[in-house]
Parts: sequence; C-alpha cells; structure tokens
Amino acid sequence: MSNKKELLLIIISLLGLFLTACSQGDESDQEETTENSEETKENAEDNKSDKDKKEETEKDKPSSDQKDQKNNDSSEKQDDSSDKQKNEDDGSANEKILPAGTLSHGDSGQKVSMMQKALNRLGYSLTVDGDLGWTTVWAIKDFQAQFPNLKIDGVYGKNTREYILKAVNGEIEAKPGTGLENNDTEDNNEKNSNVVSNPSSILALVNKNNQLPASYVPKNLTNPNVRFPFTEDLPKKQMRQVAANALENMFNAGDKAGVDLFAQSGYRSYDRQRAIFAANASEHGHEAANQFSAQAGESEHQTGLTMDVTSADINYRLNTNFANTDEGEWVKKHASEYGFIIRYPKGKTSITGYQYEPWHLRYVGEKAAKYIDSNNTTLEQYLGGQ
Ligand code: DAL
Ligand code: ZN
Repeated sequence: MSNKKELLLIIISLLGLFLTACSQGDESDQEETTENSEETKENAEDNKSDKDKKEETEKDKPSSDQKDQKNNDSSEKQDDSSDKQKNEDDGSANEKILPAGTLSHGDSGQKVSMMQKALNRLGYSLTVDGDLGWTTVWAIKDFQAQFPNLKIDGVYGKNTREYILKAVNGEIEAKPGTGLENNDTEDNNEKNSNVVSNPSSILALVNKNNQLPASYVPKNLTNPNVRFPFTEDLPKKQMRQVAANALENMFNAGDKAGVDLFAQSGYRSYDRQRAIFAANASEHGHEAANQFSAQAGESEHQTGLTMDVTSADINYRLNTNFANTDEGEWVKKHASEYGFIIRYPKGKTSITGYQYEPWHLRYVGEKAAKYIDSNNTTLEQYLGGQ
C-alpha cells in the first residue's frame, strides 16, 4: 500500500510540474501574441490606409466594369428613346423634347423654355428664359425659312414642331442663321452671342430690350468709299463690309440721281456709345436723352450695319429737317433698294423706343428692307410677326 501511495504522490507531483510548465508557456505565448497583434495593428492600419486610398481613387474613377455598365445603360436608353420616337410620332417621348400646341410672340412659361432648349440643340443661342420674345421669334422664323413647307411666321405650331423634332433627331439638317437672308455669307461663319443671340446677323434686333454684349465688335469693319463731311480717319467712318458695299451702291445711285448724300456716323464701339449717351444724359437728363440716344449695348451703331446720313443743306447736322432735303426725300424713296431701312420712322416711337430719325439707316438686306418699307412697318414688327 505504501508503495502505491508513494507512486500516487509521484504522479501528483509530476502532474503539478507539468501543469506549471504548461501555464508558463501560455504566458509567454500571450506576450508574443500581444507584440504580434500590435505589429499586426500597425500593418493593418498601413494596409487599411492603402486600401482606403485605393478605394477613394476607385470611387472617383468608375471601374472599367462600371464604365461598361454605364455605357450599356445610356446606349440602352438611347435605343429606347429612338425606338419610342419612331413608334410614337406625337407620343410622350417627343412631348419631353417639344410641347404640343401653339406658341407665339408674348407667350411665356415652361413650354416656351422647352422650345428654346430644343432650338439651342440645333445650334441657336437663345437664353432659356421661358419668354417668347423677338429673339426667339427670330430663331423660329430663321428655322422655318429653311424649309419650304413651313410658313415663315415666327409662330410655333404643329408643322414647325414636327420639323424641329426631325432636326433634333437628325433626320433633317437646320443651320442657325442661314434661313433669313441666306445671302449674307459673313454670318454663316460667325457664332451667335448670348445677349443678343445673333449679333452678327444682318437681322440682329438691337434695341432697349435687346442689348449687344460689351465685347461685341463686328468682323470686317471697313471704311466705305463714300463722301463724309470731315477728312479725319475716324472709327465712325466704318461699317461691316456687307453694309459698306450696299452704302457705296446707294451713294452711287444717289449721285446719278443728282443728290449729294454725306455719311456722318457709322460704327461705334460699346465704350464710345457709353460716352456719347453719358454726354447726352448730362445735358438733357437720362429719360429725355434716351428718346434719341441709345445706351451702351442698345445702339445699332455697334453692329456696324448702321450709317447716319445727312446733307449739306442742313449743314451736315442730324435732325428731322433732313427728311425735307432732296437727299432725305431720295433716301426715303430708294434706301430699301439697297437693303437699308429708316430704322426709327415717324409715328413708331412706341414700337422702336426712339423718336423719328430720318437720317439713321440700318442695313437689313434687300428682302427685309423692301418688306419693311412697303408695309410701313418696323424691324421689331417684321421680326415679331406682328
Ligand atoms: N440714335 C440712335 C437711337 C442711337 O443712338 O443708336
Ligand atoms: Zn444713328
């Protein structure tokens, strides 16, 4: 028995020793693990920040898979919409591009904005303001004038809508600025501006409601070869080439008819006009001055399409007496044959915004000039379809 006891005690002691050894091994492992885990934490943070950086970069750039997906999405949409447009002539897809119904000068609202946006998709530069003003009427007319089946009335109706839709869908081609007065090749190379949307068009409407950008300077300014009552080479002698040619033709015809026209004032820069208006306003007051003098940006003289003409009989002045001179009478009768209109006619102040100026000639091209003259109307009315 005692042997058995001794053996049991030995076993218990050995077991104790074994357990002690085991417990010491766990502790050292724990320390190591702690060290390792700290190391691992640092590495993890490094790794994490690399990963984050990578993710951020990838967020900015769509993955090639994402890109492919996007392209597929948009091409699917495009296919969808073109199918719809093919299948639903007057359907909802087209309604999203262009409103149904009729829109004319003076209308305003969302439908007008949609139409302006659609015209801009064709290359017009309309301000999308939802107001169907003269500039938008001009764009509609210019568009209509490019398709013989459309009436050139500046009114957006069923047929015009159909043609604009076709142009938006690429089925027919429209070139802004080429419809009205297509013969002015200078215009076709120039881009429209954002304030007056078509400052380089010979039919640009510049008035108290439609201002030219301060930076607008016409291309191809030149001195027309006509009589001036002064000899200095001043900028006000200049006109755009197309208008200068027409002025020369008109002066030559006047010479043959025995009238001695004199050119007094043509191109004026924005700054020059500002100085002129400031001088007039300080002399006559702002309101009174603005009846006969345009504020900067609102003067047709900045277009290079205008020339004030006069006669020796009134000492080369610019006043209403010009209308009673031989030169004034001849101009009234014949200016339109050369593409010029008396821009501020008698009795039209409420439309033009300026008092009668029988001397202020504006080049608009023969077709428009003859129409305006023979209908005793104004450029505003011509472009507004009134
Ligand atoms: N006299 C015209 C209105 C102008 O100043 O342009
Ligand atoms: Zn003038």
